[in-house]
Amino acid sequence: MTPEYGKAMTAEEARQAMVKDPEVIRETTPVELPVELPLPADIKQVPIRVELREAATLYGEAVNYAHEFMKDVREGKPFDFNDAAPLVNGFIDSVFRNDSAAAAISKLRSFDEYTYTHCINVSILAVILGRKLGYSRSQLELVGIAGMFHDLGKAAIPGCILNKPGKLSEQEMNIMRTHPLHGYRILKEQKGIPEAVLRGALEHHEKHDGSGYPRGLEGDEISDTARLLAVVDVYDALTSKRVYKAPLPPGQVLGMMYQWRVTDYHPNIVEQFIKSMGVYPVGSFVRLTSGEYGVVLDHCPGNPLNPSVRVAFDSRMRAITMRTVELSRSEKLQVADVINPDEYGIDVFTLIH
Ligand SMILES: [Fe+2]
Repeated sequence: MTPEYGKAMTAEEARQAMVKDPEVIRETTPVELPVELPLPADIKQVPIRVELREAATLYGEAVNYAHEFMKDVREGKPFDFNDAAPLVNGFIDSVFRNDSAAAAISKLRSFDEYTYTHCINVSILAVILGRKLGYSRSQLELVGIAGMFHDLGKAAIPGCILNKPGKLSEQEMNIMRTHPLHGYRILKEQKGIPEAVLRGALEHHEKHDGSGYPRGLEGDEISDTARLLAVVDVYDALTSKRVYKAPLPPGQVLGMMYQWRVTDYHPNIVEQFIKSMGVYPVGSFVRLTSGEYGVVLDHCPGNPLNPSVRVAFDSRMRAITMRTVELSRSEKLQVADVINPDEYGIDVFTLIH
């Protein structure tokens, strides 16, 4: 994944993506807005602090599974495909109970595990976006599995390129760009893998305007699954910490993707993703109108500009006793700005626990 870094947008500009502006209507094909799958009768929504523990256990199991299937593929052995569905169904239930918990957990893992955590993060985010797009349960399962295996072809890329702590040369980049074809070939050999999963692996780096790879497909030539994976793949890659780069703040990444929406992505999918992640995605580091700093902990349904924030620093960036404020219940307190926590050497996810 090597998107060109565009000029970063401000939080305010990202916020504008919440509304369908005239420019979007002119540049993209208007589509009917999807309706989210209603919550199943046997599932109750819970606060994020309750769901975090459940999501963390499931996430750990899924990362272990990713280690196993990547190892099997590297050794030329068939991998156990059947373990994927129960894990993805666990994530679907978790997203139904609280759609922020699994997304927050996905950012807690260390960067040296990126190859494995990225597969799982893309799976989780695919479920979250699929839900926003009105997918049925079986479609969510399929897209979650496709997310899990989208980068399987990286098992065929030499470790010195895959884990290189720096920019890849042109030649190394060309080798890296073979991973969708490797992934497709490996999955095809396994027999019985659904078509959506095969095409997710093969087409997740294709772009709407035909400038992607490996085949330069455009528009409707790209499968639905691959179009969805393309969005969440870039989001996870840019918001992840790597050996050679700091993570970019989630809101900034959404702003960048909004700029690329016409060239890279199917109409309206980035807008739906921004809606599903919220104006201030969980994990955003913000300054409040009081001058204090904190991390966004949860969304308030129907009030995207006023999330729950765990306040952790005073106006001079001195650590204070943490407290959680629900901005939707506060008349005076609002988000004043989104801050890059890296500039202050702060790991926001240590504040979420
Ligand atoms: Fe990829």
